Amino acid sequence: MGLFGTKKQADYKNCIVDIHSHMIPGVDDGAKSYEQAYAMLDIAYRHGIRDIIATPHFMPDGKNATPEIINAGVDKLQAYADENHYDLNIYKGNEIYFHEEAVELLEQDKICTLADSNCVLVEFSPMDDARYIRNSLAELQNMGFQPIIAHVERYMSLISSPFDKIEELKDMGILIQVNAGSITGFFGKQSKTVAEKLLKKELVDFIGTDAHSDGGRAPRMKECVEILTKKCKPSYVEDLLYRNAETYILN
Ligand SMILES: [Fe+2]
Repeated sequence: MGLFGTKKQADYKNCIVDIHSHMIPGVDDGAKSYEQAYAMLDIAYRHGIRDIIATPHFMPDGKNATPEIINAGVDKLQAYADENHYDLNIYKGNEIYFHEEAVELLEQDKICTLADSNCVLVEFSPMDDARYIRNSLAELQNMGFQPIIAHVERYMSLISSPFDKIEELKDMGILIQVNAGSITGFFGKQSKTVAEKLLKKELVDFIGTDAHSDGGRAPRMKECVEILTKKCKPSYVEDLLYRNAETYILN
């Protein structure tokens, strides 16, 4: 092993895994058309992303894409990537808005885990209380799933310093995702401050783009990677950008 360890480590800016994106058209509030989804793939590739988990919202309203529809969308996006000779893999997933029925639907394979792993990306309402969030995630763990909490910086009950509520979740074995746009300040000052503090304490496990379009909410990572490189230890940057994803999801 050389100075930089494996080849992949030396080139970490070009092997990013994005575990959170809304790229499949017509299934949620993400990409509006395949044309837009392809433009999003172009941007993701230029930003060094090489693995993408498509995570359409799974909401309690019952109007959700089936795993078959998500699979078909993934195949179409993958075909575009292959035609363009992008060294890029796309996988199926869901971003699950937690509700009681979701647990049952997960067990019945009606909701997608991330890339067929046991990891599930879970979101809550920004105003849900910390105990409800903790109990819900514990319920998923008890069913054998590995929960990843989506954009943790959004939940008011979890983000007061010194982050004892988030540390509690980590101690339980919950994994933590933060949005790239929170690190860059795209989502405002409060999210940026919270994201910075969480990174400083190394409480974050994954950075996701949470991309919804090829415009304002495009799958951009470059500016975020620059900030991470300045503020975090190299080995932690690698964990955030791809190693944790490889360990927990793509293994
Ligand atoms: Fe999302």
